[in-house]
Amino acid sequence: MDKSYKRLIDGNKKFALEKRFDDPEYFKKLSLGQTPDYLWIGCSDSRVPANEVTGTESGEIFVHRNVANLVVHTDMNLLTVLEYAVKNLKIKHIIVCGHYGCGGIRAAMSNSSFGFVDNWLRNIKDVYNKNHQELSLLGDDDKRADRLTELNVIEQVRNLAKTTIVQQAWKERPLHLHGWVYGINSGLITDLKVIHDGSEDIEEIYRFKTPE
Ligand code: CO
Repeated sequence: MDKSYKRLIDGNKKFALEKRFDDPEYFKKLSLGQTPDYLWIGCSDSRVPANEVTGTESGEIFVHRNVANLVVHTDMNLLTVLEYAVKNLKIKHIIVCGHYGCGGIRAAMSNSSFGFVDNWLRNIKDVYNKNHQELSLLGDDDKRADRLTELNVIEQVRNLAKTTIVQQAWKERPLHLHGWVYGINSGLITDLKVIHDGSEDIEEIYRFKTPE
């Protein structure tokens, strides 16, 4: 049996030891509860770990990751995380963070079938189709993939704004949505400056009235 997994247990021991060395109360404090200000919706890609790339600690970011950082309005998993983050944890910022070099984006751009994931990637194909004109003007596949990565993030932020969970929160308090892209080859995050701070930022058909 491959024993390489043991490295992770050793790594964990080192991690726990170092944290306790820096602050003997570190884990005791964390065990009291979490009060993160941020919800991170990112890609499952192993190269984009939310805490590491943002220089944050345990307890600071509530995290949801899936292939190509999608916000699908029928995804029970996403909606459960979103509702808990917004209603219970009172998250102040929701960040959708895509990344250049995303395999999900590349797969969605191609005409190959990859199995069950095709159904998931359909959401990205729809983003491609919606922006077909802009994308067709770009010179090559790399540029198209980069732009589709950005357009996908923008679309997923819009999908967040269309949920009752986010709209309900907006009626009660400020909640900021952000769209970012992480560069795997630079380690840097670009803020796409998608501003969605209230229901007026999305088309009227998606806005919910307060129940009577
Ligand atoms: Co990815």
